[in-house]
Amino acid sequence: MEASTPSYPQHVTESPGENAIFLVYTLSETPAAHTAVKDLCADWSGLVRSIRNRYPELSPNAVIGFGAEAWPRLFPEQPTPRELKVFNPIVGSRYTAPSTPGDLFFHIRAGRMSACYELAAIVEERLRGTVTPVDEVHGFRYFDGRAILGFVDGTENPDVDDNRYRHAVIPASAEPHFAGGSYAFVQKYIHDMAAWNALSTEEQELVIGRRKFNDRELTDDVKPLTAHNAVTNIQDEEGEDLKIVRANMPFANTSKGEYGTYFIGYASTFTTTRRMLENMFLGDARADGQTDRLLDFSTAVTGTLFFVPSYDLLSELGE
Ligand code: HEM
Repeated sequence: MEASTPSYPQHVTESPGENAIFLVYTLSETPAAHTAVKDLCADWSGLVRSIRNRYPELSPNAVIGFGAEAWPRLFPEQPTPRELKVFNPIVGSRYTAPSTPGDLFFHIRAGRMSACYELAAIVEERLRGTVTPVDEVHGFRYFDGRAILGFVDGTENPDVDDNRYRHAVIPASAEPHFAGGSYAFVQKYIHDMAAWNALSTEEQELVIGRRKFNDRELTDDVKPLTAHNAVTNIQDEEGEDLKIVRANMPFANTSKGEYGTYFIGYASTFTTTRRMLENMFLGDARADGQTDRLLDFSTAVTGTLFFVPSYDLLSELGE
């Protein structure tokens, strides 16, 4: 692809939506597996288009991404995206952001779970016998877009006042060959709901940095420097806010007592996401090196970085 070719991104800037299926697979090292994945790349835009065409009222959309170890194996003729590396775990004195395997990633969203299922089932059928599932999470919108902790999640995402593409999509000026792509980082968190619910609403608000009922941000005089939205609020050298596009979803397996957040952040550069994670897990210098209070109630059990190619590059990968 020429550097000047316009590159149409996958659906990396969509809102979290009503329902989501997150799928992570590892890929077997066989010619059949490579063929299955390349065929899926070739057909991906058509499969997504078909679902969107059939259920326009459900706004279905989907993303396919590739892990650092799979990319050069699948596409040896391609260069590697600059920041696509196996996620280096972040090991702090109190908390760890682990690194877990993943070759292929799918993020499927729709207004009804049946439309998510429809596409997930096609993916499974197309990859059957060539992949091993690592993780499957079904997320749901909880009331007015709340995390299962009860707080509205996603408010400070770039939206009408900002350009979501700028924060989520790789510009041609940074990586011409990968323009229109995105770095997707996923992390499954399990919440300690008993400990969380033992806090008063006011104490919980100091952990998140917002009011629980109406989502208002706490003013600087009351917001602790270790609040989640303080630790993850970062700037560049010129003082410009550095943002990512988050599409987190709550999930639950109530009979197992498992309540969680599936974190997903799309970014034009993984460096931004990594800096946020380091502030959370290693400690924020602005908070005297203290870690994010949210981690006292939430444990990261997975962590994988994927590259999400533009639609244009995807069809090239399928050739
Ligand atoms: C247990 C997992 C997580 C939960 C439940 C969670 C929840 C929240 C909530 C409720 C807010 C406040 C509303 C908003 O602005 O969205 C927030 C803000 C934010 N979170 Fe998270 N989050 C989680 C993990 C993460 C991770 C891993 C990152 C980064 C790698 C992150 C980055 C951010 C950012 C950038 C903001 C906005 C900060 C600002 O106000 O400028 N979050 N999150």
